[in-house]
Amino acid sequence: MSLTLRTQIGIVGAGPAGLMLAHLLRLEGIASAVIETRSRGHVETRVRAGVLEQATADLLVETGLGDRMRREALVHGGIELRFNGAGHRIDFQDLTGRSIVVYGQQEVVKDLIHARLESGCEIHFNVAAVSIHGFDSAQPRIRFHAGGQPREIACDFIAGCDGFHGICRPSIPAGALAFYERVYPFAWLGILAEAPPASGELIYANHERGFALMSMRTPAITRLYLQCRPDEDLDAWPDRRIWDELGTRFETAAGFRLAEGPIVQKGVTGMRSFVAEPMQSGRLFLAGDAAHIVPPTGAKGMNLAIADVHVLARAFRSFYRTGSEDRLRGYSAACLRRVWRAQHFSWWMTSMLHRVGGDSGFEYRRQLAELEQVTTSRAAATSLAENYTGLPFE
Ligand code: APR
Ligand code: PHB
Repeated sequence: MSLTLRTQIGIVGAGPAGLMLAHLLRLEGIASAVIETRSRGHVETRVRAGVLEQATADLLVETGLGDRMRREALVHGGIELRFNGAGHRIDFQDLTGRSIVVYGQQEVVKDLIHARLESGCEIHFNVAAVSIHGFDSAQPRIRFHAGGQPREIACDFIAGCDGFHGICRPSIPAGALAFYERVYPFAWLGILAEAPPASGELIYANHERGFALMSMRTPAITRLYLQCRPDEDLDAWPDRRIWDELGTRFETAAGFRLAEGPIVQKGVTGMRSFVAEPMQSGRLFLAGDAAHIVPPTGAKGMNLAIADVHVLARAFRSFYRTGSEDRLRGYSAACLRRVWRAQHFSWWMTSMLHRVGGDSGFEYRRQLAELEQVTTSRAAATSLAENYTGLPFE
């Protein structure tokens, strides 16, 4: 016999989507249960994205999560695009009146976990054998094992916030969803280094040898990426080779130098664009990476996840207050408008900045022409700045 827990919303996955949904629901007085296959330590230390759109940062502050972020995050009023050995600043503040906030995804996750536990609510970490049932009926169920014992959550709705490799999306019957996908023929080799960022803002570089990005986490920790092959062997990249390659890709006529330091984390991230439509099947709602993936070049992944659950929490609030399912029925369409805007922007940034195999030189020259336009035309720069800083939440 499995022990059954009864709640209103059963949430699968404790990433930014699942944790933020649980937080927004709690503020509305709606009960939820969160299950997560990994340990608390794992989700709190997993190095992921690091850029919050203004609307995302504002939502964290408005919902009581802003204390540490306000103290520790870095507010940036622009980014640099670097090509042909020179940097060009895109001034977000001047072009849009908006900024971005540099704050690691795992810091957002830590703040969300802390807030939930402090409010006396649980998160079931380290669960196994998760499956979902009956979401085509009024009695959905989530089954899993905790501490080796079978457990069950009986709920009104299931939120599938279990990321791209989760079980929720594949549990939807074949044919009910359409998938739209593009896999890129390159990846990013990312490092975290104990070195002060060499510039106050992010640098996106298009170099003949490939793309490179300088980001940061704190005034003492730099996050750097360089374009590599999807099957790149990390063993072929000792620290010295990484620094040399980064040095080449960021070089400027003015003699720019990266600050080097111990590399404390290294990894290769694939690049994919993916959308599942609709983001709902019966009483199962998909949010975040479970429903869509963007290549990281536009820094949109975490922002889309937060935007989805903002819409979903409002739809649940409307359902529990009025009994109307209209907002829930509109959930997918409302999210997909923002998702496709971000898909286009992420694809566009990616194709403007990465080298492609087999290029005769045409692609590279086309990219330089595009970068030239983006950095000299106010109209073109404004389009980048609007997309990068993001749409306000409705
Ligand atoms: N049961 C429970 N939890 C699961 C399961 C499962 N079967 N499968 C996966 N999970 C957990 C993962 O361990 C992870 O903690 O679901 C969580 C999903 O979190 P994320 O992958 O961070 O996805 P999401 O919350 O949608 O946030 C999107 O994450 O990948 C980045 O760039 C992306 O910034 C974006 C953000
Ligand atoms: C990061 O800081 O990890 C980061 C920043 C900008 C991106 C992607 C990743 O476009």
